[in-house]
Amino acid sequence: VTAGPTFEPIDPVRGLTNRSSGKQGYAIAAALADLGARVTLVSGPVALSAPPGVERVWVETAREMQAAVDAALPADIAVMSAAVADWRVDAVASGKLKKAPGGPPSLALIENPDILAGVSAPEARRPALVVGFAAETSDLEANARAKLSRKGCDWIVGNDVSDEVFGADANAVTLFTRDGGAENWPRQSKAEVARKLVARIVAHFA
Ligand code: CTP
Repeated sequence: VTAGPTFEPIDPVRGLTNRSSGKQGYAIAAALADLGARVTLVSGPVALSAPPGVERVWVETAREMQAAVDAALPADIAVMSAAVADWRVDAVASGKLKKAPGGPPSLALIENPDILAGVSAPEARRPALVVGFAAETSDLEANARAKLSRKGCDWIVGNDVSDEVFGADANAVTLFTRDGGAENWPRQSKAEVARKLVARIVAHFA
C-alpha cells in the first residue's frame, strides 16, 4: 500500500508537495492487516502512526517511493493510494535559494516516474490485483476510466477531491473496475471506505 504525498525538494529548505493527509491509505493498510494480510505501507511524509501489524517504510520523493515499492514486491495485492507528485525540480539547489534583484527563480520541472503504471505492467512480478486511485476535481468517471486503461491497473477508486477530502475523516468514492463496473460509495468514514474496499478484495480472491 502506498499512502500520503511525496515531497520533491527545491533546495535544502523548500519543496513541492500536495495536500494528501495519508488517512485513506493508512486506513486501507489497517483494514488489510486486520484481516491477516502481511502489509508493507510505503508512506510519504504524514503525521500518522503506523497501524498495528503493518511494516511502514518512510519515503520522501517519488523516486524513493518507487524504489521502496519495488523492494516490497512480489506481492499479491497493490493498492496505490499515494498522491505522488507528478513533477520534480530538475536541478535541486545545494544551498538555499536567495532573493535576488533579478526577481524570483524559475523552476524547471521534469516528470516523475509513474509508480502505478510500473507496478501494473505485465511482467512476472505483477501483483494479481492492482488498485489505483484517481483524484479528480471534474469529470470523475471519464477521467478515472481513462486512468484505469492508461495505467493498466485492475480497479481504480475515483475520488472527487473538489471539496472537503484532504485531511478529512470522510470520503465519497466510486470503485471502477476494468470490466466496466462502477459502485458508488456515498460519503462515509475513510475507515469504512477502507473496510469496504478490503471486503471487495477478499470477495475477488474468494
Ligand atoms: N501515481 C503513481 N505515480 C505517479 C503519479 C500517480 O503511482 N507518478 C498513482 C497514484 O498513486 C494513483 C494514480 O496513479 O493511484 C492516479 O494518481 P492521480 O494523481 O489521480 O493521477 P495522475 O497520474 O497524477 O494524473 P493527472 O495529473 O492527469 O490527474
